[in-house]
Amino acid sequence: MPARRWITIALSLAAIVLIGIIAADQFLKRETSGDGPVRSSGKALVGGHFTLTDHTGKRVTEADYRGKFMLVYFGYTFCPDVCPGELQIITAALDELGEKAGLVQPLLITVDPARDSAAQLADYVTNFHPSLIGLTGTAEEIAAAAKAYRVYYKKVEDEGGDPNAYLMDHSSIVYLMDREGEFLTHFTYGTPPDEIAKKIAGYLP
Ligand code: NI
Repeated sequence: MPARRWITIALSLAAIVLIGIIAADQFLKRETSGDGPVRSSGKALVGGHFTLTDHTGKRVTEADYRGKFMLVYFGYTFCPDVCPGELQIITAALDELGEKAGLVQPLLITVDPARDSAAQLADYVTNFHPSLIGLTGTAEEIAAAAKAYRVYYKKVEDEGGDPNAYLMDHSSIVYLMDREGEFLTHFTYGTPPDEIAKKIAGYLP
């Protein structure tokens, strides 16, 4: 086969792959927008609908927190360091906000629903800010919530082979959502509490 023919085939394949990527991206965008109004392209496609179970066992959706600013963090209670560290930072930031912290609802959405039952979360949240709510759900519900928030997570099997000692690799970002559940800003892992408090205060009435 002449070289030119090969180049044509290669370019055709590349075009097919590209079309596939664009189609998949459009599909994901549609998925995350849920049933709400179509968002303008300038707006961040973070957040959206979720149906989960809170640490008291109550079934909730994002609509239950309307009227409050949501501080959303995905993690898990067996996390050895990253999650407790970040939840301490959230706690310190809310303490710094004083009375205004009442306008903010911190949420911990587990990425490990297999181990993080409502009871497990109820016990865990007592280590942090008193207003912190832990949310769990079925594997599918958690996957949908994580997808809406563009959160990555993946099970990492225990090297010693203990089926219950696995870790969860996950993105560690704190999202601030407005009172209608729309994305305002995010804080990367390790942002100091006073910086977070200051930024949140700037959005509060
Ligand atoms: Ni973690």
